[in-house]
Amino acid sequence: MKKAIIDPWGTVLIEDYQRAIKEFGISPFDKKILKKLPNPNRLMRRLVVFGHQDLGRIADAIKNKSDFAILTGIMPSAEKLHLGNRMVVEMVQYFQEQGGEAYVLVADLEALATRDISLEEAERRAMNFHIPAYVALGLDPKKTHFYFQSKNKIVRDLAYEFSTKLTLNEFRAIYGNLDAGKIMSVLTQIADILYPQIKKPRPVVVPVGLDQSPHMRACRDVVRRYKKYNFILPSATYHKFTPSLDGNTKMSKSKPNSYISIPEDPEIAGKKVLNAVTGGRKTIEEQKRLGGEPEKCMIFEIYKQHLIENDKELDEIYRRCKSGELLCGEDKARACKLMKKFIEDFNKKFKKARSNVDKLNIISHF
Ligand code: TRP
Repeated sequence: MKKAIIDPWGTVLIEDYQRAIKEFGISPFDKKILKKLPNPNRLMRRLVVFGHQDLGRIADAIKNKSDFAILTGIMPSAEKLHLGNRMVVEMVQYFQEQGGEAYVLVADLEALATRDISLEEAERRAMNFHIPAYVALGLDPKKTHFYFQSKNKIVRDLAYEFSTKLTLNEFRAIYGNLDAGKIMSVLTQIADILYPQIKKPRPVVVPVGLDQSPHMRACRDVVRRYKKYNFILPSATYHKFTPSLDGNTKMSKSKPNSYISIPEDPEIAGKKVLNAVTGGRKTIEEQKRLGGEPEKCMIFEIYKQHLIENDKELDEIYRRCKSGELLCGEDKARACKLMKKFIEDFNKKFKKARSNVDKLNIISHF
């Protein structure tokens, strides 16, 4: 079998998360690790978070109330977010509530080196859009340190320092073919991930989608072989992608009707949901007789990942669908209503976060 390589800058289609776990050295997120984490959030309880690396270290820090940090990055390449981006924010929020110190960086150097977006444009997008959107999705701005890669001298210097720790062949083995801009972005991202440890070593967790796993691997390789700072191996959580409403594994930017962007017009979001692929049978008679297939239903997946918080309520929908009692029409009407409400709510919070953007805690002295 051909060894799988993930290109973090390309389209990643993951058909099989279990296979990914085996091939990328990720541990399954299972009941055992779940039990060690207090008040797990919706994504963790439902195993939408499917994998992790060294999360036990973070669980111990939570239990012992010792110091740990959370870090994530936003690349301001697109003008809009999509529903899937919300999961990163919820994971940051979870660890933040458990006592971690949160860092959110704007990957403006990565956007410059890999997408040809100027630093000024990246800043404009981040301040007008990405950062307020993250706040609207639940990030606590008072407890979060923000920074721009281009303005963080410590990160930039560390990236240069790490450049001697990986060979070109190792880059190729992890990423396949890459150019100089991508190599610089990788080194900068490794520096980002280790930045919260620069004053003193401490556990750091990076919540990401599977597309970012090559960066974790490169970063962990650097830590294992470079002892100067005594860095602790960074931990990660991996969540699944939010599927396209048309049934594909990942949302596709080229088919705007197949995913929910945020912000979005609530009416349009509702319509998109009404057109989603479900696990319904060919005829109503057949559905009543055989029951529906929630495992194949995009609406059920969206409930599970985003729209229904209460586990019992979700179980009840599953049961009624399976037994043929709940038909797709009724269910879509509910999903449409919940989605509209979610979007209306988001839009309001976004407006407010945007008008408060100048009060954010953006680190500018390095
Ligand atoms: N590469 C990430 C992206 O494409 C952005 C990023 C930069 C990042 N540095 C990071 C993510 C550190 C997690 C941790 O979105």
